[in-house]
Parts: sequence; C-alpha cells; structure tokens
Amino acid sequence: MKVKGKQYRAIWMEDSSVIMIEQNKLPFEFSVHECKTIDDTCTAIKIMITRGAGSIGAAGGYAMLQAILNTNKDNIYDVLESAKAKIDATRPTAVNISYATTRVLEASKISKEFAISEAHAVADECAEHGRLIGINGNKLIKDGDTIETHCNAGWLALVDYGSALAPIYAAHDSGKSIHVFVDETRPRSQGARLTAWELNQHGVPHTIIQDNAGAHYMSLGKVDIMIVGADRIAANGDAANKIGTLEKAISAKYYGIPFYVAAPSSTIDLNTPNGTEIPIEERGVEEVLFSYGKDNNNEFHTILTASPGSKASNPAFDVTPAELISGIITEKGIIQADTESIKKLFTDDI
Ligand code: MRU
Repeated sequence: MKVKGKQYRAIWMEDSSVIMIEQNKLPFEFSVHECKTIDDTCTAIKIMITRGAGSIGAAGGYAMLQAILNTNKDNIYDVLESAKAKIDATRPTAVNISYATTRVLEASKISKEFAISEAHAVADECAEHGRLIGINGNKLIKDGDTIETHCNAGWLALVDYGSALAPIYAAHDSGKSIHVFVDETRPRSQGARLTAWELNQHGVPHTIIQDNAGAHYMSLGKVDIMIVGADRIAANGDAANKIGTLEKAISAKYYGIPFYVAAPSSTIDLNTPNGTEIPIEERGVEEVLFSYGKDNNNEFHTILTASPGSKASNPAFDVTPAELISGIITEKGIIQADTESIKKLFTDDI
C-alpha cells in the first residue's frame, strides 16, 4: 500500500536484516525498524513493533531465514529446529508464526536454497492472499453500506492489502460509497490508531467508535455488515480474534447482521479441532492500566488511567463460535464456517 505516494509492505528483508514498519509509533510517526538478528526479530514480534497474524507469520519466516544466513554449520535442520522453538514462543495465538516456521523447516530437508525461497514465499503469498480476499469479500459489500470492523486487520497486519480491510479497500476502489465504523479496540487501540490511520491514508470514510458502542449502532440499524480478521481458525470454524470480537458477534447475531471473518488459509489450523484448544495470549496488565500517546508538544507519554493499586487482567484474544459466523472470506472464496467446508478448502478447488 502507499504511504505518502511510496509503495510499502508492512515487513520485508534487506540483506540479512528484517525491516518492518514501526507500528507502536503509528499513527503519530511513520518509521521503519531494522532487526539485524533473529533475536531482534523475536523481540520485535513480542513487543508488537510488527503485529497482526499475517505480518508476524512473515516475520517468523524471515527470522528462520536470518538463522540460515547467520550460521556456518552444515546441518541447518538442527539450527532451524531450535530457531523455530524460539520464534514460535514469541506469541502463542496466531497460528501463522508456526505455519511459517514449519514451512521453512520442512523445506530445509530438501535444500538450503529451498528453505530460503520458502521464507520469501510465505510473505509474498500472504500479500497475494490479501489481494484475493479483497476481490472475494467485495462481493458482500453493497453500495451505501456501513461496515463495522474490530482491531486492525489491514495491510499492516497482513504484509499487504489486509484481511478484513481488503474487501473494504476493494469496495472503495471499485467506486462503492461505503462508511466504516472502526472499533477503538482497547487496550492497545489497534482500531483507533492503526485501522483509522490506514483508512485515512486510503481516503476511506470512517468513524472511530467506542469499543462498547457496536451493539448500540447495530440496534439503530446503522451497521449493514461486520467483517473482522482472525488469528487462528480451528478445524470446526471457531475463530480466535482480538479480544472484544466475541461480544460483537453475539450482538450481530441478535440484530441479524451478517458477521464475516476474513483470513488467508494459512490462518486455518487443522490441528486445532475447536476453539477451546486455541491458546489465548495473556499480555501484561500495564496495557490495561496505562495509556500511551503524544501530548500537544509532540512528546510521547505513558499515563496511568486506572485506579492505582487495582488488579487487572489482559487476555489478548477471544474465540467466536462458528455458529455466530456467517462465512469465512479466504483467498480461494467464501466458505461456511464448518468442518466440511474447511476440509473441502484444503482438498478441492472451490
Ligand atoms: O495482537 P495483534 O495486534 O497482533 O492482533 C492481531 C490482530 O491484528 C487481530 O486480531 C486481527 O483482527 C487479525 S490479524 C490479521
């Protein structure tokens, strides 16, 4: 996607460095962050300099590539096996990390060159799948629609194009007049900060709404369709996404509003039978208790915004049961959120 007229991806490689857009500084500053070593890349994933299922998957693949480039050992399989364990432990919920590291590890059984090309392929395919999700999802959006979305599932989260935002960009680019309700997405505000910034860059009309306003707008008939991303979809169609998604899905069902999950097939984990098996990341409570932003003098501050001394908890994701999902928008087409349709996605051309 373009930022100030220049084409960017959310993450890429230059020589043996992984370069990523510094998402923690957005929307206040647009800058890039360089990871020179595999450890730098793992830290950047953990502290969310890069984030979003597809982008951290690409980061995982590139971190494996860094492990290859920085070793002179002949047996790269052993090197990659321990690199994979370290990379997979950075963030537990999005399956895209282990999808990427497994692909590179398996490729190394064939050759070092194939492993390197697989690391690049993971990122390239993610971007291409985002483009195709956009084309497929655009069919669900009507001229005049208001679409609600949660978290950031745009190009920053998926290397390029996005998952939930890709259909929105495609609808806008095809001339449909649309409006987006952007859930702010506490505690890290990926909606208010990142989705709103992305939509601004692309000129898509939008309004940031409080996290707890979705049901209210749905009850007033002001939401036509909700599209969210996913971090892991289980084999039965249950989908983990940013905390707060489940409440929106329940509200959408109550008010008869179509609720779609957009994700590349790399986010579907056939080894996870259902949503109860998806590991939910618990993040630091300071994300809940403190806020972070810039003051009028352009200086960054972290401030306490909760009762001093109170306990907090911070589950980063929740699981929406398949029965609340109207369909899954993938790069191959839109499928039902059920075991049969998911199995078919991996066996047949749909
Ligand atoms: O914790 P994050 O910011 O990495 O969260 C991941 C996400 O961006 C969302 O859950 C998103 O909706 C799906 S990722 C394309």
